[in-house]
Amino acid sequence: MSIHNEARKGDIAPTVLLPGDPLRAKFIAENFLETPVCYNHIRGMLGYTGIYKGVKVSVQGTGMGMPSLAIYVQELIEQYDVQNLIRIGTCGTFQDHVQVKDLILAMGASTDSQMNKIRFKGLDYSPIASFDLLNKAYNYAIEQNIPVKVGNVLSSDFFYSEPLLGDAYEIWKAYNVLAVEMESSALYTIAARFGRNALSILTVSDHILKGEKATQLDRQNSFTQMIDIALNIV
Ligand code: HPA
Repeated sequence: MSIHNEARKGDIAPTVLLPGDPLRAKFIAENFLETPVCYNHIRGMLGYTGIYKGVKVSVQGTGMGMPSLAIYVQELIEQYDVQNLIRIGTCGTFQDHVQVKDLILAMGASTDSQMNKIRFKGLDYSPIASFDLLNKAYNYAIEQNIPVKVGNVLSSDFFYSEPLLGDAYEIWKAYNVLAVEMESSALYTIAARFGRNALSILTVSDHILKGEKATQLDRQNSFTQMIDIALNIV
């Protein structure tokens, strides 16, 4: 039992998939895992443990944004000794060479958040994925003919940026950051702090500059591909 998680020790697997949306956690558990058991209801942030190909796996909602994800991830690590944390989520792109429906493996996560500024006393830390998980995910995707892009993403505190400030993404675009989401920088930083493995697998749900959006069917397909990759690297 931790402050935000009512699971008992041993209820949560060493590997946890982390969608932002708790109902996605429910969907994944009920459709991809055998014998799923829900271990958390606190704040509706559902978490489940089940079996995939003989291996115990959990799936835990994190909520949106870094402060929310940081709470769940730190408790998963400190209270439940979770070793592998794999975020599966969506992102928006502002790059001409990235398209809606593309899958991205976030090798690094830049940020506009103050969280690491505070943590590192104003200095710059580079939050990066676990090479082992990234390598496995990349090789599995290639083997399965699932095209993936690998690179830097922006973990932003803003979903709605301030229009009066101009193009919020111009500088990130110029430095070949592939897309924007709201969680990976905190995930990678906290995992590193405790010596754990983390990876974010993201599907591009919208092109911010072109105003394109993935259809419901596209979202469903890329979502299935992300889950397939995540479950097969554990
Ligand atoms: N911004 C932040 N996170 C996102 C976006 C976005 O435009 N699209 C999907 N996740």
